Amino acid sequence: MLSPEGRVVMISGANRGIGLATANLLAERGYKLSLGARDLGALETATMHLPQDRTARFEWDATRPKTSPAWAEGTLIRFGRIDAVVANAGISPRARLDDDDETAIDEMWEVNFKGPLRVIRAALPALRDSGHGRVVNVASLAGKRVLSDNFGYSASKFAAVALTHALRRAGWEDGLRATALCPGMVDTDMVASAQIPEGQFKIEPDAIAESVAYVLSLPNNATVAELLVNSRFEPAI
Ligand SMILES: NC(=O)c1ccc[n+]([C@@H]2O[C@H](COP(=O)([O-])OP(=O)(O)OC[C@H]3O[C@@H](n4cnc5c(N)ncnc54)[C@H](OP(=O)(O)O)[C@@H]3O)[C@@H](O)[C@H]2O)c1
Repeated sequence: MLSPEGRVVMISGANRGIGLATANLLAERGYKLSLGARDLGALETATMHLPQDRTARFEWDATRPKTSPAWAEGTLIRFGRIDAVVANAGISPRARLDDDDETAIDEMWEVNFKGPLRVIRAALPALRDSGHGRVVNVASLAGKRVLSDNFGYSASKFAAVALTHALRRAGWEDGLRATALCPGMVDTDMVASAQIPEGQFKIEPDAIAESVAYVLSLPNNATVAELLVNSRFEPAI
């Protein structure tokens, strides 16, 4: 198994939800963290308890392309290497098939697909140099099947899964391994108002953070392309 010792992990959307739970757990395990969020003040407030000598914070907005190379460059200046990217930030405004207004679809394409793409591309040379680079794209079970009427969210997450597979091909020879992490409903702000049918449960963000930590710990010859995490019974998922 790979040790966290000396390894540098970039996490997007680290100020709340799954991103913050992941930052907390990876800090506890001993990783060095480079955290990205569009509101630097909120990020500082949410993560001020993390060890200062192992934590760097950067302003990063999925919709502002230049912030991706700036974040990767800043990480290299601070820590000298990048060993992993956890592309976590995402949004889920409703976009139904029969909506004429495409605004929500465009926003999700920008944040859920192009956001990860831009960060990964910016970090790619350093991830290749690492020799055991890792990318965890926090996609969704919505990126594996279409269950709700928010087809635009599903489409953006199917794309994030495709991005993961493209990266697996492109990075294989350099020891880069990528995983599409696909959770069901997780107990965060994103689904705070969602109606949960009787007998179903939301997954704790800490459980998803554990999944990220597990994937990061695997050696180059034990790669997980997709990790599906469900809280209820569905045939085959
Ligand atoms: N919750 C679920 O049920 C669930 C299930 C499957 C997959 N996921 C995925 O898990 C990931 C994390 O979601 P979550 O549940 O933790 O949601 P969340 O609590 O709503 O957090 C979303 C995060 O994404 C950030 N973000 C949104 N737009 C951004 C932008 N333009 N640039 C940079 N950051 C941006 C938010 O920053 P601000 O605080 O600035 O808004 C926040 O940090 C998402 O990709 C989501 O699709 C969630």
